[in-house]
Amino acid sequence: MYLSRFLSIHALWVTVSSVMQPYPLVWGHYDVCKTQIYTEEGKVWDYMACQPESTDMTKYLKVKLDPPDITCGDPPETFCAMGNPYMCNNECDASTPELAHPPELMFDFEGRHPSTFWQSATWKEYPKPLQVNITLSWSKTIELTDNIVITFESGRPDQMILEKSLDYGRTWQPYQYYATDCLDAFHMDPKSVKDLSQHTVLEIICTEEYSTGYMTNSKIIHFEIKDRFAFFAGPWLRNMASLYGQLDTTKKLRDFFTVTDLRIRLLRPAVGEIFVDELHLARYFYAISDIKVHGRCKCNLHATVCVYDNSKLTCECEHNTTGPDCGKCKKNYQGRPWSPGSYLPIPKGTANTCIPSISSIGIAPKLALSTVSSVQVANHKRECYCNPLGSVHDRCNGSGFCECKTGTTGPKCDECLPGNSWHYGCQPNVCDNELLHCQNGGTCHNNVRCLCPAAYTGILCEKLRCEEAGSCGSDSGQGAAPRCSPALLLLTALLGTASPLVF
Ligand SMILES: *[C@@H]1O[C@H](CO)[C@@H](O)[C@H](O)[C@H]1NC(C)=O
Ligand SMILES: *[C@@H]1O[C@H](CO)[C@@H](O)[C@H](O)[C@H]1NC(C)=O
Ligand SMILES: *[C@@H]1O[C@H](CO)[C@@H](O)[C@H](O)[C@H]1NC(C)=O
Repeated sequence: MYLSRFLSIHALWVTVSSVMQPYPLVWGHYDVCKTQIYTEEGKVWDYMACQPESTDMTKYLKVKLDPPDITCGDPPETFCAMGNPYMCNNECDASTPELAHPPELMFDFEGRHPSTFWQSATWKEYPKPLQVNITLSWSKTIELTDNIVITFESGRPDQMILEKSLDYGRTWQPYQYYATDCLDAFHMDPKSVKDLSQHTVLEIICTEEYSTGYMTNSKIIHFEIKDRFAFFAGPWLRNMASLYGQLDTTKKLRDFFTVTDLRIRLLRPAVGEIFVDELHLARYFYAISDIKVHGRCKCNLHATVCVYDNSKLTCECEHNTTGPDCGKCKKNYQGRPWSPGSYLPIPKGTANTCIPSISSIGIAPKLALSTVSSVQVANHKRECYCNPLGSVHDRCNGSGFCECKTGTTGPKCDECLPGNSWHYGCQPNVCDNELLHCQNGGTCHNNVRCLCPAAYTGILCEKLRCEEAGSCGSDSGQGAAPRCSPALLLLTALLGTASPLVF
């Protein structure tokens, strides 16, 4: 009885795909989740990948300062111009609105003159470090789409770390280090994002570009999202298809641009000279007039709209998904495991809608069918031709699908999921050009092993051979061995790879 239904829908499927409709989509913007199309059978819905618009995310965050009483003005305090220790006619007074500098002023409208800013107390307790943590929380996963830009009103800090959390502030990872002297401050070699490449784009770097103190006119520091996108999409981000393709297949790349919280750790204020002028400590403090964070709610390509209600961001899930990030299938729509939408094929992507649970197929057969591919439909009665190496059985299961082994996909179970390659079935990659890059000049052979230069060993050529044998001279290793700073170790934890410099 189902069979005739299957076949008639199969015919419909063919009709739909051969009469391609002009989709109301801006190239690669994924701004609609579904559209009505006309077929011989009348109007039907066609589902596609979708995501909310990228927007100014500072409207939706909560800010927290540590220590909580670090904002200036309680008690009132006089501070001096950073560049001139004798110009001390500025006052901060928390109880007078015109003289107060509360944290909200980091997120208010800019363009006023003089600009409004948050300001810390001065460094009167020198040499005790003047340190402040500024935590921005969204209580929602968001995907960054543009540079994070912080404007300092009186000198960019000598040392600071930008950190991120992906689990609502439970754990933190460094995002970027900033210092006038990276080696001195963080034991890291200074780098700029321009020194990175597609293969090292997830490396956590220390940059000296933005910490030249008050002598330069620029007040701004960046966390360069766009430069990182450009490694995939080209310098003017023209080839977004390439970027989307990478984001689709490389979870670690996607996660890199995803946060629930950001933390700015201010470790040492701008001093602008080699020595701190102990007679004029009222010159040293932090002042931030603006923080820009552009991004979108992460909805796993299952929603176009993200609503802000009761100070909470939530995706309005389509495709019969649910949860704050559309991260699972609705009840009664668990006919196959949930999966995120896919950016591919460009420009409309794949919706990967949730389909009715097996028990409810009888009630709504049409829903299930509109998402089943023609190959699977055609397989129902005929031989399945499931790939014997890729599938659990060589026959279809009760509902007409080949059941694939781990790492395998496709209607016939003859394709590998990202991170796997075909060697008598899909096997997890030992090395590849994405996450599991061979190091120290090693090359990846058929995704199964790294061919290492003579001096190196380890799965990814990450170890010096002499270390393995315990025969490195006390000095000899020092120049060649990669220095493992705490930052890199944290990066290792963040990326979960065996070696710090690979992503
Ligand atoms: C900032 O956060 C770090 C990490 O949790 C912590 O070690 C440090 O003490 C905090 N600093 C301040 C000033 O609260
Ligand atoms: C989700 O389910 C509803 C019925 O509950 C249906 O109207 C709708 O078309 C379904 N959407 C998709 C994408 O399958
Ligand atoms: C058949 O396999 C598909 C795909 O793995 C699965 O979703 C479905 O539940 C299976 N059906 C039965 C009856 O085992």
